[in-house]
Amino acid sequence: VTVYVPRDSAARSVGADEVADGIAAAAASAGRPLRIVRTGSRGMLWLEPLAEVATPAGRIAYGPVAPEDVEELVAAGMLDGAEHRLCLGPVEDIDWLRDQTRVTFARVGVVDPLSAEDYTAHGGMAGLRRALSLTPEEVVAEVTESGLRGRGGAGFPAGIKWKTVQQAESDLKFVCCNADEGDSGTFADRMLMEGDPFTLIEGMTIAAWAAGAQEGYIYIRSEYPDAVATLRAAIETAYTQGWLGRNILGSELSFDLFVRVGGGAYICGEETSMLESLEGKRGMVRAKPPIPALEGLFGRPTVVNNVLTLGSVPMILADGAEAFAGLGVGRSRGTQVFQLGGNVARGGIVETAFGITLGELVEGYGGGTRSGRPVRTVQVGGPLGAYLPTSQFDLPMDYEAFAAANAMVGHGGVVVFDDTVDMAGQARFAMEFCAAESCGKCTPCRIGAVRGVEVIDRIVAGENRPANLKLLNDLCDLMVEGSLCAMGGLTPMPVKSALAHFPGDFGTTTEEQR
Ligand code: NAI
Ligand code: SF4
Repeated sequence: VTVYVPRDSAARSVGADEVADGIAAAAASAGRPLRIVRTGSRGMLWLEPLAEVATPAGRIAYGPVAPEDVEELVAAGMLDGAEHRLCLGPVEDIDWLRDQTRVTFARVGVVDPLSAEDYTAHGGMAGLRRALSLTPEEVVAEVTESGLRGRGGAGFPAGIKWKTVQQAESDLKFVCCNADEGDSGTFADRMLMEGDPFTLIEGMTIAAWAAGAQEGYIYIRSEYPDAVATLRAAIETAYTQGWLGRNILGSELSFDLFVRVGGGAYICGEETSMLESLEGKRGMVRAKPPIPALEGLFGRPTVVNNVLTLGSVPMILADGAEAFAGLGVGRSRGTQVFQLGGNVARGGIVETAFGITLGELVEGYGGGTRSGRPVRTVQVGGPLGAYLPTSQFDLPMDYEAFAAANAMVGHGGVVVFDDTVDMAGQARFAMEFCAAESCGKCTPCRIGAVRGVEVIDRIVAGENRPANLKLLNDLCDLMVEGSLCAMGGLTPMPVKSALAHFPGDFGTTTEEQR
């Protein structure tokens, strides 16, 4: 019998290791031969630890399985896929999973993340093989036609970035993967790295071929030790498979890949700060231009992309640009891996085509709040994203539609709050966060955020409210206009959205703000 138990750190944090050990022990004492495969997580985090048993009818899921449930489960016939109160039926039929369009996450939760055999048996390396049969120019054209945009948050077209690096003159170029995933409520990069690391390696190798790069670095935040270990092990295997190193898959491409671990600063997720950190310096933001595509790591042309951007590339090359471009709306093509978190009943990974509405994500997939109280607001796009009220639940997840609503899709994080949230407190937190995480290079961010906390406190205390509201608005405008990077430039977004949609929490009214 084969049983699948996630090794994803979210599943491990609620006892997946103990469950796997328990199943092995119970099977041994029942005299049943057993193979346990530790997979990534399916992304249904409220059902973790989720164990799956291979049966002739497919994989039967059980969850959430507490370590103390295991003995009873095995005795009740779990190893044969028997009915039980924790049995969820065939995992692929669970509507939450069935209704998604898993492209980047197609193999996560299915395969053993470190098995090269599993990887190729599930379509792995088809993208790289096809890329190597094309010229670098053709690969760039394919990525451009797919409409893939940067999944780190800014949504810049990946093909245009790659073309810039390709056309830059240099004997040394780099591909850097930004795996610093600092946004609160986001975890898709981590889950892909832990659940299907070869996809990222393959995506980076395709980028190296397209851009003419010889070396790559994956910059992972130190808070992700499991992802670091998984990627290091996967890179070692990739070398033994001929997927990295000299003459990859018999081609003329040579590419070396390294993992570097960050030190825990949010700003090191900003691409130029990340490059400084990779060079062994303090993570301070560089002025742009020059853009990293022309002068990046050690001053050389560098592709810098997020984990999910690079992780989408193998499928685009394997299935063709049209398949990817066929999904989505407007200029937001393909799928986005949304991450539901905060006070939500069913949190986890929802990979679906752009265009799904915010309400469908939060009420449909998320099932409302975990507390059972009404949803009051949702913050989309990390700590620098806007707070949206439920009246905007018909907004489609689409870069342009969100921008038009003074919000952003960002890295796809969706954090839910119930009606007990204090929005003035949330606005204050945004300024506090900026003050704590600012790299300190420019004044509107470094000093402005500190003043922002003070002025919000005065507004809430009712001190000369009209003047302080005006001051806060001026300060926000200055931060937007005068900050060097998105840290200071976007902090006003949560503050202004909280004020616009929930003025009562600041003791003010919309009229008073005018
Ligand atoms: P940006 O708009 O300055 O740049 C986006 C990307 O396009 C960069 O890689 C830039 O180098 C590149 N680029 C711009 N013009 C180019 C050109 N002409 N040719 C080639 N490449 C070009 O945005 P930025 O500051 O890199 O990112 C801001 C975003 O980061 C925010 O919108 C936010 O959503 C996101 N963010 C994500 C976090 C996470 O944890 N994933 C954390 C914080 C912010
Ligand atoms: Fe540094 Fe803030 Fe200026 Fe960005 S906006 S460069 S984080 S001080």
